[in-house]
Amino acid sequence: MGFEHTSVMPNQVHAYQNLSPGDICVDCTLGGCGHAAATLKAIGSDGLLIGIDQDMDAITNARNVLHLFKDNVRLYHNNFSDLPGILTDAGINGVNSILLDLGFSLNQLTQSKRGFSFKKEEPLDMRMDVRNPLTAHQVVNTYSEKKLADIFFTYGEERFSRRMAKAIIETRASSPIATSLELAGVIENAMPARAKAKQKIHPATRVFQALRIVVNRELERLETFMQAVPSMLVKGGRISIISFHSLEDRIVKQRLRAFENGCTCPRQFPKCICGFVKQMESVTRKPVTAEPDELNANPMARSAKLRVAQRV
Ligand SMILES: C[S@@+](CC[C@H](N)C(=O)[O-])C[C@H]1O[C@@H](n2cnc3c(N)ncnc32)[C@H](O)[C@@H]1O
Repeated sequence: MGFEHTSVMPNQVHAYQNLSPGDICVDCTLGGCGHAAATLKAIGSDGLLIGIDQDMDAITNARNVLHLFKDNVRLYHNNFSDLPGILTDAGINGVNSILLDLGFSLNQLTQSKRGFSFKKEEPLDMRMDVRNPLTAHQVVNTYSEKKLADIFFTYGEERFSRRMAKAIIETRASSPIATSLELAGVIENAMPARAKAKQKIHPATRVFQALRIVVNRELERLETFMQAVPSMLVKGGRISIISFHSLEDRIVKQRLRAFENGCTCPRQFPKCICGFVKQMESVTRKPVTAEPDELNANPMARSAKLRVAQRV
């Protein structure tokens, strides 16, 4: 299976990572390995890259693509929420750089045959790690109407969540909804014509996002990971995170803010007595977005937001 490079904001990420030869780095989301290859070039023959992806296809691809750097790479088929354990087992106390480029890869969308795209006739699966038990098929065909509506509203921010959940329940009463295209059709028909005409994205975009988040427990994993960030970086080490929707970005922003300014003392107190210790400092005050050239060439970059922070 041919992987395509899908690195978003390669130049900005590279500049913010501030890498030096010999650094120890982690790429938590290898995907097509565009960012990983650039990191390996920057850290040179004395550096080490820990590469992680929960999708075995991405690990297999990384073995090929990063072959030339094999002495400087260790690959892990894991969830990035397992990173603290991976570093402990490897005897690494702290790293210079961690990168997360969240969401799914172009390969997963176009070639995985796991139903990530609403434009393809594929089984409703949506698992990034096929060892996990829960599939989108199970969610769509067994969850209650209320639970589905809540999922579409909470994780897809979908206005018509109730109508869509109702349409699913009615359709599956005669036979299960088996493919991504079938589900996309049900969702499209449930959306009022006026709303459909007004919006620029496909009517099923938000529902597919919501299902992917639930199946892969994406926000839960990100939250677990974020809590451990300061403990995994050396002083001056940087975390760079690219997110693609507001639910992810909110978790990243709030966690980084809590590490930087989590003092809970009332404002009028002359000095802090709550015991807060500042662990991180923002490098990017505002999220960084893609340059116009990249936006023209790669529509996936449109919603990307990069936040970078440094261990103090
Ligand atoms: C946007 S792609 C990364 C693209 C990559 N940076 C590149 O240069 O090609 C996201 C990748 O992260 C992986 N991924 C997403 N969430 C993950 C998680 N919680 N743990 C491990 N891998 C994850 C996906 O399987 C996918 O391969």
